[in-house]
Formats: sequence, structure tokens, C-alpha cells
Amino acid sequence: MVEWVVCVAAVVVSFEDRPADVVQAAKDRRVVETLLRLKGVKLNTKPQWKAAVRRHLHRIVGQPKYFDLIERFALREETPQLLDLAVAFPARSSAVSALRLLLKFERQAEIRRALKDHPGKAAGLIAALGLAGGRSALEILQPLVVDREQSLAVRSAAARAVGRNLQGQQSLLTLVREQKLPRDLHFTVADVLFGSPIAAVRSEVARYLKMPAAAKGKALPPVAQLAKRRGNAARGERVFNMQGTCAKCHKVRDAGKEVGPDLSEIGSKLSTEALYVSILDPSAGISHNYESYIVVTVEGTVLTGVKVSDSATQITIKTAEAVERPFSKLDLEDVIKQPTSLMPEDLQKNLSLDELVDLVEYLETLKKPPTGIKSAKP
Ligand code: HEC
Repeated sequence: MVEWVVCVAAVVVSFEDRPADVVQAAKDRRVVETLLRLKGVKLNTKPQWKAAVRRHLHRIVGQPKYFDLIERFALREETPQLLDLAVAFPARSSAVSALRLLLKFERQAEIRRALKDHPGKAAGLIAALGLAGGRSALEILQPLVVDREQSLAVRSAAARAVGRNLQGQQSLLTLVREQKLPRDLHFTVADVLFGSPIAAVRSEVARYLKMPAAAKGKALPPVAQLAKRRGNAARGERVFNMQGTCAKCHKVRDAGKEVGPDLSEIGSKLSTEALYVSILDPSAGISHNYESYIVVTVEGTVLTGVKVSDSATQITIKTAEAVERPFSKLDLEDVIKQPTSLMPEDLQKNLSLDELVDLVEYLETLKKPPTGIKSAKP
């Protein structure tokens, strides 16, 4: 909603307070309304109608009506605008609508290029493609799952997106059965397939993969089911500081160490599902600036940690114990970026199912303080 309100507001300021533009906008709207009532309109034979429709479209970019009109009149020339919308905010429903139309217009090549040109947005765009759905989305997504050139974040997002489709679930199951599924996707694919609505898929995947085990070796249910449970936030806070060992690496307000990101507002940033995934499969979505590195010195010291700073002469690494260690670049043999997170993979092993649910309940309470209340007062 907010996205197009902003767009429309911008247009209102720039055009519509000039009388000629107001008149033109009203005319265009009338043309569009009339065309919508006619059957079998071919805009390509009527350039002036088409121009009116396109002017109107550009006044309502991103609104539901915008996508309806593009679809109704099959306006393939809107491709660049649709791509821009998808890339700008992949997590919004406008991105899904835009991608659905791009797939309908067979713009697979353009979508693939956007994924390549915007690596920081790729995982988000892939998730939106999964929601846009259909066979043509699968054609883009399936090869990404097993493409070793792609980061784990991209492959994992692709596996989740493929898993939104029943035919896609079968293709994931085939990878599992034929032992072609890379090890680092086991969690994602197990989570997707154990959550399948089809009993035969769930029972077959159980022959090959397991969900991670909580304390006492009890396998966890899929994330979609975990996310429906309610826990006790006060108990979760104790889990965070004690059994979970989370406070060894994360700050919440003034307590805890800062090896990983500050979690004081994590409940505003991540959905319940994403909170579970970041605990159960930390490497699948490593936060920006928290990639882990191994440094090897000329003298043979080896140290793993996140990079705190990197200048022309010096690099500083922060270890899992929150120790900052500077190195002169002259002393370094190698600096190797790791595909895995510094956050340990099996933290849930020390937690019971209830403790894990309590922990996530607690994380959800960590929200941004509400803003705008003060400024709204005169
Ligand atoms: C050894 C250090 C370490 C421990 C222990 C640890 N984490 Fe992390 N955590 C990290 C690092 C580093 C990152 C950033 C890299 C990544 O996203 O995987 C991270 C990322 C996260 C994120 C994603 C943050 C974001 O902004 O996207 C969440 C949520 C999180 N951790 C929760 C937890 C919880 C809950 C626990 C306890 C069960 C825990 N962590 C234990 C190091 C740790």
C-alpha cells in the first residue's frame, strides 16, 4: 500500500497541481474507463489511445489497477518499469505482481539478467518469483538450486521458492533420491519437503533427510509448523542468556557481546519463520557485513572471525569469543571468505522444543520503538 501512495503523492505534487495536467489526467482516465468497457480492443492500432493508457499507467505505478491494466491490454512495453518495481522492493506484493506479468510476457531472459545485475536483491527476487509461481518461474528457479556458482543464500532461496510448487517439490525429491542435493541445502530442502501437503512426499523424504534435532535427539517439525506455536517470552529471554548461549555473540540493548548483529530490534526485521531459519540454518542467509573469514599469517597462525575493518595496511578480525585481533597486511599469507556463518549450526541441540519456541517468542518482542508519535504532535 504505502509504496504506491508515495508514488501517487509524488506525481500529485509534480503534475497535478498544474491545471493543464489535471485536465489531461482526467481525460486519460476517461479514455481508460471507456476502453475497459469495450470488448476486443487492440491498442496497437490506435496510438492515441495507447498513449493515453500509458500516461494513465505512469500516474498509478505499483497500484493493483496498474497491473490489471497492463495485463488486460498486454502492454509488453512496460517491461522495464515492471522490472524496476520488482528490483526496488522484492519483499512487497507489487514485486510479485510485476514478476507474474513479466513471466506471462515471457521475459525470462530479462528476469535472469536482473538476478545477475542485482546480487544483493537476488534472494528476495527469487522468493518473489516463487510466489509469482507457475512453470515458467520453475524454469528459472530449478537450475539455480544446483548452480555451484551461486551463493548459498541464492541456492537456498531458490530451493524454498521451487518448493512452493508441487511439481517443484517432486524435483527437489528427485535431487534428494539421486543424492545430487548439495550438503548445505539439506536443512532447506528437508524443511520444505517435511512441510509438504502430500503425505507421500513427507514419507519419502524421511528415508533420506532429517530435520535438525533439538535436545535429546528429538527431530523438530518444519519451520512453517514451528511458527504457529506460541511460547513464553520471559522464559525465552532466559534461554537467550543461558542455555542458548546467544548473548555470547549478540547484544540486546546494553547486554551481551557483539560478534554477530545487535538483535535489539530483530523482531521488526525478521518474520517468525525467518527467525527460526536464522537459528536452525545460519549460513543460509548470512547478514551483510557479517561474512566470516579465515586469515592465515605468514607464520602460520590461523584465525576465523568476522571482518571488523579492512584498510590498505591492516585488517581486523573479530573472533567468536568477541576478541578483536588486528593484523598487518604484510604479515598475512591469505584471507579466505567462508561460505558458512560464524554462528554455530546446531545451537538447537541444547534446547528442548519448548525452549526454542520460547526463545523465538522472546526475539519477536524485540521491536523498534514506535516512531512518528512525537512529530505528529504540533
Ligand atoms: C559464535 C557466535 C554466535 C552465537 C553463539 C550465536 N550467533 Fe546468531 N549470529 C552470529 C553471527 C556472526 C551472525 C551474522 C551472520 C549470519 O547472519 O549468519 C548471526 C546472525 C543471527 C541472526 C540474524 C540477524 C540478522 O540481522 O539478520 C539471528 C536472528 C541470530 N543470529 C540469533 C541467534 C540466537 C537466537 C542465538 C542463540 C540460540 C545465536 N544467534 C547465537 C553469531 C552467533
